[in-house]
Amino acid sequence: MANASDTIPNLTPSMIPVTPSGAAVATSASSGSATGLNAAKLPPEGYTELARRMTKPAKVGPEGIETLDGSVLPVTYTWDYASKRVDLRALYEKSKDLMWNARVDIDWSVDVDPERENSPDQANPIYGTDIWNKLDPKTEIPRLRHHMGSYILSNFLHGEQGALLATAQIVNSAPTPDAKFYAAAQVFDEARHVEVYDRYLREKFELVYPISPYLKQLLDTILTDSRWDFKYLGMQIMVEGVALGAFGFVHQTSTEPLIRQITEFIMKDEARHVAFGVLSLKDMYKDMPEKELRDREDFILESSQLLRDRFLGQEVWERVGLPKKECEELSEKSEMMSLFRKLLFSKIVPNVKKLGLLTPYVRKGFERLDVIEYENWEASA
Ligand SMILES: [Fe+2]
Ligand SMILES: [Fe+2]
Repeated sequence: MANASDTIPNLTPSMIPVTPSGAAVATSASSGSATGLNAAKLPPEGYTELARRMTKPAKVGPEGIETLDGSVLPVTYTWDYASKRVDLRALYEKSKDLMWNARVDIDWSVDVDPERENSPDQANPIYGTDIWNKLDPKTEIPRLRHHMGSYILSNFLHGEQGALLATAQIVNSAPTPDAKFYAAAQVFDEARHVEVYDRYLREKFELVYPISPYLKQLLDTILTDSRWDFKYLGMQIMVEGVALGAFGFVHQTSTEPLIRQITEFIMKDEARHVAFGVLSLKDMYKDMPEKELRDREDFILESSQLLRDRFLGQEVWERVGLPKKECEELSEKSEMMSLFRKLLFSKIVPNVKKLGLLTPYVRKGFERLDVIEYENWEASA
């Protein structure tokens, strides 16, 4: 029997037909077009040059890679490919039709001044305090805007990478072809989300913050837990639930047209991602033994705490030379911040309830966080 390597030639760069501009072209004989690609989307300089432009690192930003040990997620084949979950297959079909291309569908020519009041200064957790009033409005306030904007968007960026990794794990472990397909579509969505936030921060802000230690701790937990439902519960229900609230806030309050456009595209994808989590976990917790259920309840409350503490601006105060402890305390007390932090739970609470996880134990926790009022808001699926 011929082995695959006898019949399939190794593909080398010289074997890929290239246009004069350097763009690789498709060679499908049946496509009927010269390229088989959408001509309107072809970059004039070619794909290689285009990719080369993306090698410029952030002026200021984190570097390097990090390998997480301890993930022992089971890998599952499904040998029967007929649809088992019509709801997830429908979501997959919808997802394909709504795909967008970050390079051509977003207007990257928009000029962004990161020091301008792109979102109202009132949203800054120390706005109106003595510390704020002493800042120089010509130099120090614009600098603080730049840093605070970068801090928030950088955590969006890193959170998107977490979603990319967690959803790739779902592709591996999900037990139906429909969940694998949908998760694969989400993987591609998340790659675009990482792409746009990274490009926005590197090109327009030239400043990227490292991930907040609270968000990092939560992502590490989600990515290393071997129980498959923790991926959905942690990522689709908690992190993406919070993201929807946060993106909504940015979209409503920002006057900067590029970030508004980006957020609008991403929010549409995220709404489907959260729905995927709710549909996938439906009925999961009905008959779960008490001890196992307690693990999920604790996880919901601990991750709520971590997500709530993300936006205290801890890293920013130090970087811009303001008293860290004092600013953190002011952030804790800020009326605007407490409104914002509450808003972050407007999707989580109804979705947790829909999954049957708003048990007396979780309810008490949500009451402590002062977010129980969202329990009757609309769930995501
Ligand atoms: Fe995302
Ligand atoms: Fe997502």
